[in-house]
Amino acid sequence: MSDAASVRRWMADPALIRFTVVVPGPEHGPLMPYTVPEADHYLQTLVHEPSRRSYAIELAGVHVGNIGIKDWRQGATSAECFIEIGEVSARGRGVGTAAFHQLLGVAFDELRLEEVRLGVFAFNAPAIALYRKLGFVDDGRYGWHWADGGYYEINAMVLSRARFLR
Ligand SMILES: CC(C)(COP(=O)(O)OP(=O)(O)OC[C@H]1O[C@@H](n2cnc3c(N)ncnc32)[C@H](O)[C@@H]1OP(=O)(O)O)[C@@H](O)C(=O)NCCC(=O)NCCS
Repeated sequence: MSDAASVRRWMADPALIRFTVVVPGPEHGPLMPYTVPEADHYLQTLVHEPSRRSYAIELAGVHVGNIGIKDWRQGATSAECFIEIGEVSARGRGVGTAAFHQLLGVAFDELRLEEVRLGVFAFNAPAIALYRKLGFVDDGRYGWHWADGGYYEINAMVLSRARFLR
């Protein structure tokens, strides 16, 4: 929880919210960006939710983002992952790639998952490029996201153990 200040700052940034928080419909728009209590609740969820394995991403000792597994249960063979590099200056420098390599090690070696899934907004080209580079492939539609007055697809992507180890 000592990372609360950075998480509060990031979650108050509409540009980060735009890429990371699913908005089911127009009625949810005014909730964004996050207030301090909402950001703290999000961090509490990252830290304490039993279905999560959350990690702070540090660059030269500075907290620049979060990455992890969610919706995981003991014995599960599949779980979802997430990443957010909140510090804009830390993006595009290989941090996401390096953090994901460590997370996928946890997912496949420690948790013994057979696949890791994720959902990504169809307009999030940088994230989609990162996931493809890591070996994720398209797996249909995850759902819908409301933004800019319209609905966008949320793409489902998946990385299997076999593909990860190839
Ligand atoms: C998406 C995100 C995780 C990528 O992490 P990153 O550290 O910036 O990415 P890297 O520097 O490791 O780059 C990895 C690959 O991603 C792609 N990429 C990264 N930034 C990009 C950009 N601005 N435009 C296009 N592709 C980009 C490239 O394919 C890159 O590989 P390359 O350098 O060999 O070309 C990061 O930008 C982020 O947290 N963005 C905001 C939150 C978010 O979108 N989270 C994901 C929600 S699904």
